[in-house]
Amino acid sequence: MNPSFPFSSSLFFTLTIIFCSLHSLGFANRLIQQTCKNCSKTDPNISYKFCVASFESNHRSQHAKNLEELGLISIKITRHNVTDTNAHINDLLEKNKSLDPFIKECLDDCLEVYSDSISTFREAIRDYKAKRHSDCNVKLSSIIDASTTCEDGFKQKNNGAISPLTKRNKDTFQLSAIALSIINMLINSDV
Ligand SMILES: *[C@@H]1O[C@H](CO)[C@@H](O)[C@H](O)[C@H]1NC(C)=O
Ligand SMILES: *[C@@H]1O[C@H](CO)[C@@H](O)[C@H](O)[C@H]1NC(C)=O
Ligand SMILES: *[C@@H]1O[C@H](CO)[C@@H](O)[C@H](O)[C@H]1NC(C)=O
Ligand SMILES: *[C@@H]1O[C@H](CO)[C@@H](O)[C@H](O)[C@H]1NC(C)=O
Repeated sequence: MNPSFPFSSSLFFTLTIIFCSLHSLGFANRLIQQTCKNCSKTDPNISYKFCVASFESNHRSQHAKNLEELGLISIKITRHNVTDTNAHINDLLEKNKSLDPFIKECLDDCLEVYSDSISTFREAIRDYKAKRHSDCNVKLSSIIDASTTCEDGFKQKNNGAISPLTKRNKDTFQLSAIALSIINMLINSDV
């Protein structure tokens, strides 16, 4: 019996595992790059860099095997972001006792549209999983609208008020545009 056999066979096994994980990582990264390239080409509002960075910040996307899986991940990334923004608005309203009345009114409106979005996500994910892509498209579009409605509220004052939510609204806008763009690719491949 060859005493080195168990060692070399376990080494071989380890190397195989390493190779396979690298291979699937490479596949997922190519899928992300290709998808983000397609998204930014079809929707000028989507930045390729932002798209890749948002997927790379989520470990689940490293295991995505196809566009369908990546689409669900993008909806969940967006939901996580919106949920966090919702909590942030609540914080601003509760902690700041010296809020300007106009800002407070705007924040109240933002809170309303964003909390509605949270229940919209539940329906959007249900539609997505049931492959009702067009229904999901409508719901994600309303989430994009939430971000612009919120931001536009601050612009209604004549000399303009400074929105404390500009970055967050922009993030929500882009993240939901990415999810929407993936849904539209799936709709196009359905027909
Ligand atoms: C991106 O677009 C190209 C060309 O239209 C297409 O061949 C490819 O399958 C698309 N990739 C994804 C991930 O949608
Ligand atoms: C890009 O954003 C603008 C402003 O919100 C919007 O009117 C337009 O429809 C968007 N473009 C696409 C392709 O979605
Ligand atoms: C929301 O998305 C932006 C852009 O990807 C990111 O910088 C930010 O950390 C996200 N916030 C949360 C709570 O996920
Ligand atoms: C509270 O709101 C006011 C104006 O609405 C702003 O100037 C101030 O920086 C805020 N304070 C904190 C702690 O966020």
